[in-house]
Amino acid sequence: MNNKVAQRAEWLRREIQDHSHRYYVLDAPIIADGEYDTLFQELLALEKQYPELRTLDSPTHRVGGPPLEEFNSVEHKQPMLSLDNVFSAEEFGAFADRVDRYLKVSTPLQWVVEPKLDGLAVELVYENGMLTVGSTRGDGVVGENITAQLKTIHTIPLQLYPISDVRVPSSLVVRGEVYFPKQDFRRLNRLREENGEAVFANPRNAAAGSLRQLDPRVTAQRSLAFFPYAAIYLGESTCSTQEEMFASLRNLGFRTNPLVSLCASMHDVVEQYAHFHEIRHSLDYEIDGMVIKLNDFSLQDRMGNTARAPRWAVAWKFPAAQATTVVEKVDFQVGRTGVVTPVAWLRPVTVEGVVVQRATLHNRDEIERKQLKVYDTVLVQRAGDVIPEVVQVILEKRSGAEEDIIFPEYCPVCGSALIQRNGEVAVRCVNSACPAKQIQQLIYFAGKNGLDIDGLGKKNVEKLVAENLVAEIADFFFLSQDQLSQLDGWGEKSARKVIDAIERAKTPKLGTFIRALGIRHVGEVTAELLAAHFGTLEAFIIGNKEDFIQIEGVGEQAAEALEVFVQSPSTKETFDRLHLAGMQVQPFEQSESPLSQRVFLFTGTLLSLSRNEAKQLVKNQGAQVVSSLSGRVTDLVAGEKAGSKLTAAREKGITVLDEGDFLRLVGKK
Ligand code: IVH
Repeated sequence: MNNKVAQRAEWLRREIQDHSHRYYVLDAPIIADGEYDTLFQELLALEKQYPELRTLDSPTHRVGGPPLEEFNSVEHKQPMLSLDNVFSAEEFGAFADRVDRYLKVSTPLQWVVEPKLDGLAVELVYENGMLTVGSTRGDGVVGENITAQLKTIHTIPLQLYPISDVRVPSSLVVRGEVYFPKQDFRRLNRLREENGEAVFANPRNAAAGSLRQLDPRVTAQRSLAFFPYAAIYLGESTCSTQEEMFASLRNLGFRTNPLVSLCASMHDVVEQYAHFHEIRHSLDYEIDGMVIKLNDFSLQDRMGNTARAPRWAVAWKFPAAQATTVVEKVDFQVGRTGVVTPVAWLRPVTVEGVVVQRATLHNRDEIERKQLKVYDTVLVQRAGDVIPEVVQVILEKRSGAEEDIIFPEYCPVCGSALIQRNGEVAVRCVNSACPAKQIQQLIYFAGKNGLDIDGLGKKNVEKLVAENLVAEIADFFFLSQDQLSQLDGWGEKSARKVIDAIERAKTPKLGTFIRALGIRHVGEVTAELLAAHFGTLEAFIIGNKEDFIQIEGVGEQAAEALEVFVQSPSTKETFDRLHLAGMQVQPFEQSESPLSQRVFLFTGTLLSLSRNEAKQLVKNQGAQVVSSLSGRVTDLVAGEKAGSKLTAAREKGITVLDEGDFLRLVGKK
């Protein structure tokens, strides 16, 4: 290797680090995603050829290193404390009074308030600017070494990244919260459901599950994020207040929470609490309250800590959206992919104004972990838009009349033996002819994620199945108006409407059709990729695993599932019948796409799909996507909290689309 290669690698590292900082921390990229990828690929290739070039801070660590055998323990330099809680303005007032009386300062105390993120506390150690060790909180004294996992999080600097002429401290410990953004959490669960994997109960569990992965490459695929809330400058103190500390962390390349604010009075604190409580559901992360800290470090020192928690800070928690009720029975539902989910039926109870009657018990392990029995009194919780869940059993309320929950060994619907694969929590029915799976498939096929046939929602599909009118997807297209109008509660008119809708559904686009088939591991994005690759249904159904796997974005599992699907005799039969019924799946047409001349820029947060999915959708229709505003941009898609790009685009007279306009444009609405 010559010097030039080493220099090139160094240049690439700096360049990538800079663009990554602009993208993830400042939210102001100056190059397109594709250009960034090219730089990244070049560095990966160089490091592969010359492994000695892979420095500790190389951005290629973001993709995850080799799997660990186990987690080693790490002793924290100072214990990681917990916080005392208060639940009302009075309790906070009492806390602040105690601090006031103890400190006896003449001026009013200044408090810094921060959202209390519901994630996982971690510690990051930087030596000479380099991230050397990252660990979990553990028991507060000793945690687990998860350095490789933490390095995959883009908002954690691998190397301190001083802005302007800030001095890099020789030794710095940063503490903060790792969290799973809510939107990514919903997407992850959707995907897991599609793949028949157990879903995570809430973003916090998803964050914990993703961090405690021995294989950092798995962590790298999860969109974790980080906000710091404390820093310890070992040996050299450069900040004297919490406020200065945040500014200093920003100057060293961290993204800090923009909601952190300084309060000059108790009144301000109370107002901030009301504000956080009001906006909590609109944030992309879960918060369970707010943390209030004395701003002045010298006053913090004077207050000191107890063994458990600081005396200079307190958590003011939101009232929990929880209630107690009784589990009246547990039943087991079989989903589209065969996963069996236990569901608790509860004595109806109101939680934050909503009547809760059912709660998911997730899977067998969860029932065992909670030691739940039928007739138990339980604590249930409704968190945001997640399905209500049983938090814990109230053991004190047991009477002895409770009954064990017996997890079935056979499918409650078709009776075939249930299977739990090695290493999976999901228990599933693998009988492809299981009526429960088939009915879910039919609901999916006709539903919003499928061909979206008006009038064929869940209830009506169930009815058609119960009446033996429909058993597989092709049957929808053989229904007659007569058959439908004779059904209970259906008249001529509604029958006509549904028949018309079915008629309209006979010419779906290829991508829509593939997605509607509900093949395991094949969601919207993969379906579009397949459509773009094969062009026609005829080409798609003669594909084999090798063809599928060579498509960028299609993984091993999806390729396998696709091969099984297209080669199965029943698929052939279904397709023959669809053809007979007059179904004509439209070939994928890139060149005719109205978007082929357009250049898209995305800003802000989209609610119904991820940024990557959105990009893929317009790319599939021939458009280009860039990540900075320039004269080439024809359309700006502005999600929630769109910022400066939106203003600039308006000034330049660029077409601005909101989420609704965008979905209509790409035919998703
Ligand atoms: S300060 C000595 N600030 O809450 C101070 N903690 O209940 C200790 N947390 O383990 C922590 N957001 O995981 C602090 N802005 C914030 C926080 C925060 C979330 C978590 C943290 C800690 C737990 C204590």
